[in-house]
Amino acid sequence: MSELSVDHLLGIKYLNKTDIELIFETADQFKEVINRPIKKVPSLRDITIANLFFENSTRTKLSFELAEKRLSADVINFSASQSSVKKGETLVDTVNNILSMKVDMVVMRHPNPGAGVFLSKHVKASIINAGDGAHEHPTQALLDSYSIRERLGGVKGKNVVIVGDILHSRVALSNIYALQLQGANVKVCGPKTLIPKYIESLGVKVETNLRKALEWCDVANMLRVQNERMEISYFPSTREYTQQFGVNKTLLDSLDKEIVIMHPGPINRGVEITSDVADSKQAIILDQVENGVAVRMAVIYLLASKIKQ
Ligand code: CP
Repeated sequence: MSELSVDHLLGIKYLNKTDIELIFETADQFKEVINRPIKKVPSLRDITIANLFFENSTRTKLSFELAEKRLSADVINFSASQSSVKKGETLVDTVNNILSMKVDMVVMRHPNPGAGVFLSKHVKASIINAGDGAHEHPTQALLDSYSIRERLGGVKGKNVVIVGDILHSRVALSNIYALQLQGANVKVCGPKTLIPKYIESLGVKVETNLRKALEWCDVANMLRVQNERMEISYFPSTREYTQQFGVNKTLLDSLDKEIVIMHPGPINRGVEITSDVADSKQAIILDQVENGVAVRMAVIYLLASKIKQ
């Protein structure tokens, strides 16, 4: 039987192309399951999973919890704001206490880059990174590629532009790794101040003109400006940002082809994307959310298979 090359999902950086293909083939089967009247399989009745969220989340937290429950795993949820972390307990102590309750797997979102890698070296459990600061968000990139594959029939050879706040985005970095592993061509587009200087060393081209980027691409992945990660302003005003880097229906209709619009959420309607685009047939934003459950089921199932060996 095929298995993942890794024991944890810490970042796309640690996966290979075969891992991604295996995750997608497994997700295809789970997508079929979650569209049945009974949306559940007994596969992980013997597995207990802790969801540790040290940072806010709507989609990722609920999607992981649902994926775990659809696989019949036992699930416990931890929110840092209501925990003894507030009393000064360390991350490793917190997780080791949770693991001593016979927990097998930890899904963790943390504001600090590298928190998942650090934890994987200090505790005995399979770790899934649900977003670590501005570093990686591997399951988001997997569900994004899975959604492109579903809409366009494949990822190889597709032109994908990631638009917006690349500097503070874990979604951008994980998408760049995932798309390149699958043979897509990747550009980033945004204000120069929000594009890291190292980006071209990853084989990514920079385009600061949104119209040119949209004319080139098959898919535009629109990112939110992450004001919560900024201590200063990186552009003169929100209105000027929207004028230069926001997509609207008039702009899309003026292109000579229909491109696919993606967004990881949460959306700032009227800033990076207008409502008429976000709610249009061109946008696959809610397909991304739907696919997130199947893709996370696949990741959890494949990692749990390695624990059981
Ligand atoms: N896309 C994403 O990570 O959304 P949440 O922050 O709501 O989980």
